[in-house]
Amino acid sequence: QVIDAQGLHVLPGLMDCHVHFREPGNALVETIETGTKAAALGGLTTVFDMPNTNPATADLETVQWKQKRASETSWINFGFYIGATRENTKDLASLESQQGVCGIKVYAGSSTGSLMVEDDASLEQVMLRGHRRVCYHAEDEYRLQERKKLFCEGMPYENHSKWRDEECAFLGTRRIIALARKTGRPAHILHTTTQEELEWLVDHKDIATVEVLANHLTQIGPECYERLGGFAVMNPPIRDQRHYDACWEAIRNGVVDVVSSDHAPHDPTLKAKPWLCCPSGMLGVQTIVPLMLNHVNEGRLSLSRLADVMAANPARIYGMPTKGRIQVGYDADFTLVDMGKQRRITNDWIASPAGWTPYDQVKVKGWPMVTIVKGCVVMQNDEMLGTPKGQLVNFLP
Ligand code: DOR
Ligand code: ZN
Ligand code: ZN
Repeated sequence: QVIDAQGLHVLPGLMDCHVHFREPGNALVETIETGTKAAALGGLTTVFDMPNTNPATADLETVQWKQKRASETSWINFGFYIGATRENTKDLASLESQQGVCGIKVYAGSSTGSLMVEDDASLEQVMLRGHRRVCYHAEDEYRLQERKKLFCEGMPYENHSKWRDEECAFLGTRRIIALARKTGRPAHILHTTTQEELEWLVDHKDIATVEVLANHLTQIGPECYERLGGFAVMNPPIRDQRHYDACWEAIRNGVVDVVSSDHAPHDPTLKAKPWLCCPSGMLGVQTIVPLMLNHVNEGRLSLSRLADVMAANPARIYGMPTKGRIQVGYDADFTLVDMGKQRRITNDWIASPAGWTPYDQVKVKGWPMVTIVKGCVVMQNDEMLGTPKGQLVNFLP
């Protein structure tokens, strides 16, 4: 097959290491098939799926179910996390060695679903077993519960700065770094958002790797709350300008290793409920590449830094075979992008059954034109080609 790549840039296959496809449990909102199709349309060759499914991906039976489902229905390379629970710590080392498992996800504070490991003793048990990256949702549970109470009291919209509770994230992150120091096991801090966290992490890069989300690099509160209401609610929250600036500073100074979407689809009728009575999370797997290419065009980062945070660094951190910046053992995963193409993101382009994006009508410059997975073109000019080939990622043993 001949691809006319005139005028396009060829990037290493871009990865989104943080998505919540809802299978098993809520196929009306997202499945592995629909989520990986959305990812391919958005220029991604690999996704890593979170374990807060129903049932949670925290035992062998569900792991095997997900492996089978992914190998039958995934359009692109698929990896997934094991959810840590207080009960499964002794099984983590064997669960993480299953094919396709990219790492362990720990909810040190509660979120969508029932997964949570709250007490220090259990967290230490998690850190003492296995060798894959342990990835933390690190918000402080006590402060989260305080936040929830505010929701129930019908906190007025104008008070969203109180709801955002910046200290909640910083407390959680400091706690996890202390735990990493104590056990000597590196921790991957998911979705860092605050200036305080990011400035403090500068001194902990020997034991911590760091993720920032495209949403926190693109949306700024309170403007987005006024515009989107409940559709802009996520955990951790969209913050104001000073934190937005800090996230970009951390991209440039090297504190950030990975940029992901935290794609967390919810039924739009639930998101349209009154402010803060809605579930938290936004769709993002299909829009992360266009948004990040637009940031490149606006001079916030270089194309090669983008390839670092969405391909080379994730491959290294999660243990995919690499040689320098190149992933080896992956036959030709590429994303071809048109840096000059201007286009509007629209709800009707979104492939997820949930069917919405917080970026509806947003105009960007830079667009993914072709997605190539293992040498096969799976997406070209908005069209899916072939059938889902089902490929679990082979991580290093
Ligand atoms: O906003 C969020 N939504 N944060 C999370 O941690 C979970 C996610 C979801 O699964 O809905
Ligand atoms: Zn999270
Ligand atoms: Zn998440």
